[in-house]
Amino acid sequence: MTQILVTGATGALGHQVVEFLLQRVPAGDIVALARDPAKLQAFAEQGVQVRSGDYLDPASLERAFAGVDKLLLVSARAFTDAFRQHTNVIEAAKRVGVRHLHYISLQHAEGSTVEIPQVTQWEKETEALLHASGLPVTILRNTMYFDTLPFGKSVEKAGLRAPAGHGVGAFASRRDLAEGAAAVLASEGHAGKLYTLTGGEAVDMAEIALAMSEANGREVEYREVSVAEFVAARIEEGFPEPVANFLAAWFQAIAAGEFSEVTTDLERLLGRPPQTARDFYRVSQHA
Ligand SMILES: NC(=O)c1ccc[n+]([C@@H]2O[C@H](COP(=O)([O-])OP(=O)(O)OC[C@H]3O[C@@H](n4cnc5c(N)ncnc54)[C@H](OP(=O)(O)O)[C@@H]3O)[C@@H](O)[C@H]2O)c1
Repeated sequence: MTQILVTGATGALGHQVVEFLLQRVPAGDIVALARDPAKLQAFAEQGVQVRSGDYLDPASLERAFAGVDKLLLVSARAFTDAFRQHTNVIEAAKRVGVRHLHYISLQHAEGSTVEIPQVTQWEKETEALLHASGLPVTILRNTMYFDTLPFGKSVEKAGLRAPAGHGVGAFASRRDLAEGAAAVLASEGHAGKLYTLTGGEAVDMAEIALAMSEANGREVEYREVSVAEFVAARIEEGFPEPVANFLAAWFQAIAAGEFSEVTTDLERLLGRPPQTARDFYRVSQHA
């Protein structure tokens, strides 16, 4: 029996990873980490071991990681000193003898100097810390999710307005990326591997807008806007300025080609092509 622990199991990505693991391994082999285990009652009822742990509380992590063979670290949230939290997870895993660490990182272009504040630096430092841990490590560099591309309210009102230029990205659905992570965790042969998990094609914002138009049955138009315009629109929607700048940085990264590389890693893990933009927006429209 191999015990597989998923952190962030109450979050959007981690929750789906556990759901996909349930299709591949016995429920009793899965350990779901939560700050508040009550949120994962439904998993507990299916036989998943739900354990309490906080990235900021190393002792709680050691208790939760006892007996775990494989651990998936889902990154901590932006604006929360994520690197310290990741360090706590990695150190606790080492202390209790976890055998294999997996980490959800972010796709970036080779030799890139693009900075997404609160994200890219931590991803680099966390990957380095994992490699220095001496444990077998598997890195999953996820592309940007389709799910986070449109900004609901603003897209409804004004179309897709972003400072992404004509940059393309090999975006994928969070659901496919979660299934890819579950496929890695549920099988062997991934130690020491670095996967860049992307969709099967790189599309620009105009193509995303077209896919959304088809799904909605009414035209969604993409217009490139300046960073200042995008930030002002987010502030008007109620986002604090640092968050508005943070959101803009993702689209500036798209413009710079940060997510443009297409790989077949995700397709191989899924055993089928990942969802395209058309598939994704059509399905989410009817979800
Ligand atoms: N590639 C992309 O496009 C993209 C987009 C968005 C995010 N991301 C990255 O992917 C990660 C996961 O995304 P997501 O959508 O699943 O985020 P999410 O829904 O915000 O989930 C974050 C998870 O982390 C847990 N967490 C936060 N602080 C914690 C702490 N101190 N100790 C233990 N657990 C803690 C949360 O638990 P609670 O329920 O207790 O709060 C939650 O389960 C994000 O953190 C971000 O780094 C990538």
